[in-house]
Amino acid sequence: MSTRLDSKYFTLDENILTLEEYLRAKQWIDTEEKILQIERAGEGNMNCTFRVYTDAASFILKQSRPWVEKYPSIMAPFDRIYSEHLYYTICSSQPLLQRMMPKCLRFDKNNRILMLSDLGREGDCLSLYQGEELSYSNTNKLLLYLHTLHRIKLDNDNKKALLNQEMKDLNHFHIFDFPLQNENGLNLDTFTPGLEDVAQSLKNDLSYVARVKECGKIYLENGDHLLHGDFYPGSWIKKEKDLYVIDPEFCFLGAREFDLGVFHAHLCISRAHISKEVCFDAYEGFQDLDMRLVYCFSGIEVMRRLIGVAQLPLDYSLEQKSRLLEGAKKLVLDA
Ligand SMILES: Nc1ncnc2c1ncn2[C@@H]1O[C@H](COP(=O)(O)OP(=O)(O)OP(=O)(O)O)[C@@H](O)[C@H]1O
Ligand SMILES: [Mg+2]
Repeated sequence: MSTRLDSKYFTLDENILTLEEYLRAKQWIDTEEKILQIERAGEGNMNCTFRVYTDAASFILKQSRPWVEKYPSIMAPFDRIYSEHLYYTICSSQPLLQRMMPKCLRFDKNNRILMLSDLGREGDCLSLYQGEELSYSNTNKLLLYLHTLHRIKLDNDNKKALLNQEMKDLNHFHIFDFPLQNENGLNLDTFTPGLEDVAQSLKNDLSYVARVKECGKIYLENGDHLLHGDFYPGSWIKKEKDLYVIDPEFCFLGAREFDLGVFHAHLCISRAHISKEVCFDAYEGFQDLDMRLVYCFSGIEVMRRLIGVAQLPLDYSLEQKSRLLEGAKKLVLDA
């Protein structure tokens, strides 16, 4: 399958001359400005994301296409970058959020290309799964980020524009549905021999499957709060001891418990055991949230990251994964 868009769109690629022409025509670079280098910005799967160096600056260009960049035979919502752009625009009016995100510099709606400030090459926080610590101060900053995000008041136009229904449906499928489908075609033994049997025993537990389905329905409900929607270490970028948040393409209006649950899940996975001890204090008023729902979403996120499609870079043994899955099931059933 071709990975080029049809001729009415500009296809972002590593060709310096055509990119220079495109950026000049858009007046995103000066007439005399020259591109020196174009490189993949990082390890993304969904979109085409480049870092561009010119003789004056560097910046990030991200283009959404009607397919998943890494697997072009899998379709994906073409307009997903609209929600990402709107999220950046809305958050830029909140100083605390803007300080923790790249700046949204330009947007080409027709070609689905977003220009972001470059946070440098340190990359994301996936190294947390290899034993790197998330400091107390950065944990609190991330919670403060969520707290500030969840308090944003939106007008009706933005509420409508942020439904992000297609991405929400896609995420719903991969979190709440696909991992527990019998014979979904994913051979988990290729990740960890024996994992298939462990997954099967979860799929056979009807009360567990029913509770996951119920939480899926809650996920699909419309809420009043703007959520990031994919708040995990792959969306946190390191830069000189500070953390920045990127990639809000799964943002939507929903239950705050979802963002907190996903956050909790990844702290559990990175420490390789389930713990309710994550301190939510920095999220002011967290006691008023439905903590049972936070833990349910957390358990489900752990499960889908171990037996679903969106695998993480984990070098855990079968025993470690089984223990995590057992703990995750308890979170869902006992919460
Ligand atoms: N503003 C930025 N500054 C520095 N690096 C960035 C920036 N934006 C993205 N990157 C790098 O590019 C990678 C991919 O970006 P991003 O996560 O936005 O793409 P994606 O295609 O949506 O990824 P995924 O498939 O994980 O959803 C990031 O992990 C990061 O390393
Ligand atoms: Mg993404």
